[in-house]
Amino acid sequence: MATAAQGTSAVVEKAPKKQVVVDVAAPSRREFLYYIWGGSMALLLGQATAGLIWFALPRFREGEFGGTFRFSGGDIPAAGEPPLAIPEGRFHIAHLEDGRLVTLYGVCTHLGCLPKWDDPNVRFNCPCHGSQYNRDGTWITGPAPRGLDRFRTTVSFTNGEVEQQDEVGTPIPVNGREISEIAIDTGDRVNGPAHGVTL
Ligand code: FES
Repeated sequence: MATAAQGTSAVVEKAPKKQVVVDVAAPSRREFLYYIWGGSMALLLGQATAGLIWFALPRFREGEFGGTFRFSGGDIPAAGEPPLAIPEGRFHIAHLEDGRLVTLYGVCTHLGCLPKWDDPNVRFNCPCHGSQYNRDGTWITGPAPRGLDRFRTTVSFTNGEVEQQDEVGTPIPVNGREISEIAIDTGDRVNGPAHGVTL
């Protein structure tokens, strides 16, 4: 006699296995963090490079106020001639009777009016409150607190020598040498001399 177990074929259905799908193309959490970190570093590097380029580039172009103006020797007045006014640069190139050169900021040190050269009286006169300055920019009279300010000037000579104005704006000696170029940096200004000081 056959038992029930032997006589019947039982169908046992197994529960379906749980499928785990692994997408090998998807980044893991760690990889994702690496991407974020790499992107941040690239951004920082880009910003630092852009900043360096910004500071390395000149802020002002040549020939505009704030930048450098260049003249050849033939443009410079002879010693004792009226100073050369350059309105776009707001300065005067003064060639003194003793042969030295100085570039004077053409703005009164009192309240900022524009002194004019008065050739018969050999001085700059300020139209606003009467300050007066010598050809070398030193103060003569009036409420101005000091002489006219100076711009950094570099003079190149045809013999290859170069003279640069010092830290206090002392006029540059020419000493009979032929000037090939004079460069005036209107972004580099030094205060004019105090009352009674001659440079
Ligand atoms: Fe020149 Fe006052 S602004 S004297």
